[in-house]
Amino acid sequence: MRSARRQRLAVVANEVVGAYVLLRLERGEMEPGVPGQFFMLEAPGQLLPRPMSLCIAPPGELAFLLEPIGPGTRALAGACSGDGIHILGPLGNGFDLDVERPLLVAGGIGMAPMPYLSETLGGPPALLGFRSKSHAEAARLLPGAEVVVEPQLVTELLPDEPGDVLACGPEPMLEAVRELAPDAQLAWEAPMACGYGACYGCVVDVEGRYVRLCVEGPVR
Ligand SMILES: Cc1cc2nc3c(=O)[nH]c(=O)nc-3n(C[C@H](O)[C@H](O)[C@H](O)COP(=O)(O)OP(=O)(O)OC[C@H]3O[C@@H](n4cnc5c(N)ncnc54)[C@H](O)[C@@H]3O)c2cc1C
Ligand code: FES
Repeated sequence: MRSARRQRLAVVANEVVGAYVLLRLERGEMEPGVPGQFFMLEAPGQLLPRPMSLCIAPPGELAFLLEPIGPGTRALAGACSGDGIHILGPLGNGFDLDVERPLLVAGGIGMAPMPYLSETLGGPPALLGFRSKSHAEAARLLPGAEVVVEPQLVTELLPDEPGDVLACGPEPMLEAVRELAPDAQLAWEAPMACGYGACYGCVVDVEGRYVRLCVEGPVR
């Protein structure tokens, strides 16, 4: 919570990116944080905020890539230019950026933190996997990335010596990445209600120990 702030930010625009929506907010006084950290966004009409990774941080803006899958993400994706959205962050642990040979690996909406991560690391190689061509349109946010669409899996692109892997995606993908690159930094997901350690809603079992993913993750 060191540099976290809570502020109401104005929506600049909601842009369709294939099957996803890019929610662009005015930055206000908010810090973008370390790639892989997350923000809690209050979704219009919803009691609880929703965790989101920062996707891009152009001057004066913070932008989030949303997959509209339920009431919260659909409400955020439906926000209009000029609407106000309360956000809290940056929260949690981001990626360790002290890496020699970074390789970014993402699946599906795990793509969300990759553009900001890539920009911060100076544009390392990136591998992206999506379940359809429409989802794969999000790859335009990360020019130069190698892209596959199912049935091909992104893990099939991992070289024998993958270097320093930084990955985000669905749990089975992360487990597969860990098999191939045991030292990979992985950004995990769990349902989160507060985002700062108070509700224990995000507890996961890590090697027999229960941890709150919002404070001991999401990158582990
Ligand atoms: C640290 C973090 C960063 C995230 N970043 C992004 C992002 O950048 N863009 C994005 O679109 N989504 C992101 N998510 C996931 C997003 O927060 C959830 O999809 C969202 O909260 C779902 O809310 P909803 O009301 O739309 O759907 P709900 O009705 O709450 O959920 C729809 C379905 O998804 C399941 N679900 C909900 N949340 C999660 C979760 N966190 N993990 C696994 N299953 C879940 C539910 O059980 C349900 O089956 C992130 C999650 C975390 C923990
Ligand atoms: S989301 Fe509340 S403790 Fe992690």
